[in-house]
Amino acid sequence: KRVVLAYSGGLDTSIILKWLQDQYQCEVVTFTADIGQGEEIEPARAKAIKMGIKPENIFIEDLREEFVRDFVFPMFRANALYEGEYLLGTSIARPLIAKRLVEIARKTKADAVSHGATGKGNDQVRFELGAYALMPGVKVIAPWREWDLLSREKLLAYADQHGIPVDFKKRKGGGAPYSMDANLLHISYEGGILEDPNFEPEANMWRLTRSPEKAPNKPQVIELTYAKGDVVAIDGVKLSPAQVLTQLNEIGGLHGIGRLDKVENRYVGMKSRGCYETPGGTILLTGHRAIESITLDREVLALKDDLMPRYARMVYNGYWFSPERELLQGLIDASQAPVNGTVKLKLYKGTIMCVGRESKTDSLFDPMISTFDDDGGAYNQADAAGFIKLNALRLRIGANVQAARGKA
Ligand code: ARG
Ligand code: SIN
Repeated sequence: KRVVLAYSGGLDTSIILKWLQDQYQCEVVTFTADIGQGEEIEPARAKAIKMGIKPENIFIEDLREEFVRDFVFPMFRANALYEGEYLLGTSIARPLIAKRLVEIARKTKADAVSHGATGKGNDQVRFELGAYALMPGVKVIAPWREWDLLSREKLLAYADQHGIPVDFKKRKGGGAPYSMDANLLHISYEGGILEDPNFEPEANMWRLTRSPEKAPNKPQVIELTYAKGDVVAIDGVKLSPAQVLTQLNEIGGLHGIGRLDKVENRYVGMKSRGCYETPGGTILLTGHRAIESITLDREVLALKDDLMPRYARMVYNGYWFSPERELLQGLIDASQAPVNGTVKLKLYKGTIMCVGRESKTDSLFDPMISTFDDDGGAYNQADAAGFIKLNALRLRIGANVQAARGKA
């Protein structure tokens, strides 16, 4: 009996590791990934060894490129926003973890996977839907839904009783009064003092961005180059997907871009207040809409916009590995063939304004047709009269009927 645990090396997942060994008498395989959370992952190896994990059962991987290339970028082709605001920074990382958990389970001949998400949130759903979709017979162990270590005190007591070393006790965020989840796309803050949706968090909570008030007084203009809907260069310098996001996080963070304080609806039914900072992602969204504005046909754009909220719900609710998300992704990816060119974005104190967009190969913007000046007959203004009259036909019929009803 063997279980693969998504192991951060922190206190909570170390307790889970111990609990799995004791409760299930099973061999534990640990999986620790760098998805850009900004913490060293190598220390997780020594910790796992201290907890009795065999070296061959410790998996430590840098997944930053895969995360951005195969998850973040495809999602940004859809301009996905959950409930109008949330850029899905945590939601999009979970399927990648689920995929690797299952792949490692296959490799190590494990029959179960385990994670540290609670029974009240979205993450459990995302991990487990992903795992079941990729390994239908897998067994899932979610300790938070089984044990009674529901308070900090009980967890610490358990750690003490079971000899979990004291240096493991540092929690993510160094004892911050809220829970954090970080990756290359965002940091989220939830729980603890944030559970009062009417309370404004302290300025020092935010870690990726300066406050807009403290951002530079001079705007910065950056140029993004797009190929098939993905950013491939910043200011003319070619970069890999993870490099693009890393650099945009730095630039956006400097200018106070991408903070959000939101109450959202979790899939399991309750409302939840979360604070997010997504500097690079916020720039990516604005830039992508700008390049699409000149390269996509009006109705293709409208169709994408109609489908976007559904796509975002699929990602939020954990259906990344589902036929419906894959079907939609095919349509979205196909739409991106002409999304090539450059955009210039001006960043200033928390704002982003597109100040230029160009596509040498795919622009549908025809200045001859669009101009208010003499277009040399490219567009016949007289045609518009009939266009408007036919579109007005039902409005006029309706108004006439209403007028007649008023008289009767
Ligand atoms: N509410 C966000 C979401 O569902 C963030 C979740 C944060 N997760 C965490 N383990 N702290 O995507
Ligand atoms: C959790 O419940 O573990 C974190 C919050 C969430 O998944 O929504």
